[in-house]
Amino acid sequence: MSIVTDYFLNLEKAELHLHLEGSVDPETLVELVADSTIEEMRARYQYTDFLGFLQAYKWVTGLLRTPQDYALITRRLLEKLAAQNVRYAELNLSAGVVLWRSQSLPAIYEAVRIAAAESPVEVNWIFDAVRQFGPEAAMQVAEFAAEFVRDGVAGFGIGGDEARVPARDFAHVFAFAKKAGLHIAPHAGEVSNAQNVWDVLEQGAERIGHGIRAIEDPALLRHLRDNDIPLEISITSNIATGAIASLDAHPVRKLYDAGVPIILNSDDPAMFHTTLTDEYRLAASHFGFSNAELEGLARNSFRYRFAGLSGCESTAL
Ligand code: HPA
Ligand code: ZN
Repeated sequence: MSIVTDYFLNLEKAELHLHLEGSVDPETLVELVADSTIEEMRARYQYTDFLGFLQAYKWVTGLLRTPQDYALITRRLLEKLAAQNVRYAELNLSAGVVLWRSQSLPAIYEAVRIAAAESPVEVNWIFDAVRQFGPEAAMQVAEFAAEFVRDGVAGFGIGGDEARVPARDFAHVFAFAKKAGLHIAPHAGEVSNAQNVWDVLEQGAERIGHGIRAIEDPALLRHLRDNDIPLEISITSNIATGAIASLDAHPVRKLYDAGVPIILNSDDPAMFHTTLTDEYRLAASHFGFSNAELEGLARNSFRYRFAGLSGCESTAL
């Protein structure tokens, strides 16, 4: 391992945008599915565009049948995070998918929470609804999230296909979630446009999942900077889904230089063949972020968390 590798590995980091279900590696899928092969599982992690990625993601969730399956993938993920010196994580659970499959969200949440409690990584959860499932399904997710707000659920988010249903259709859902004490962290401006970021801001978004299309709107860049609203950036994800055509075209450096708060994240590490450490390394190697700048981004990953780390505030910040 090179010195450079060790530097990014050793940096104390937090993960604020990481989907539990997107962290399941093909080896674990083979354990979960009888008579399957690693080749079959790896082949499923190939896609050419964003909708292909969403299909692959949905397929993985279909293999997670019991609370024990969810506990297993949580343990596996947290082992990997601990090995990267990730001290804190806000993990997205696709609660909307769990409900859509008529699985027991309380049982699954209890299983992942117990699994996470065994890890040295401190964890809080964000319950994600699915945009294209619509407001009624999202409300059910928000209601469950509200039920567990004092039990480790820090936020409410929306993932999926942002082009399908406008954020304003979820206005009552966001309002309910906020009133219940949940923080709001929706995906927006990943594959669509800057207007979608404005739209979730209007609904009270405190962090933006991706939000890279903000680069198309100077007024939005100023708004994010002046209001200290961070973008959860996942460079490898954006290339893998085709959200951005090439590394050279990725706006992370321009967003940073415009003063927009940035956090680096892995998003769906197994599905994008990346790790949080890789994302820091990539920011250095391809986008010229200095070590001091990356240390600042690592500090951001703690600073913009919604909860947690009550006992070690002084070391984290
Ligand atoms: N975008 C939208 N939906 C998702 C993502 C994402 O990055 N990851 C998992 N579901
Ligand atoms: Zn995501």
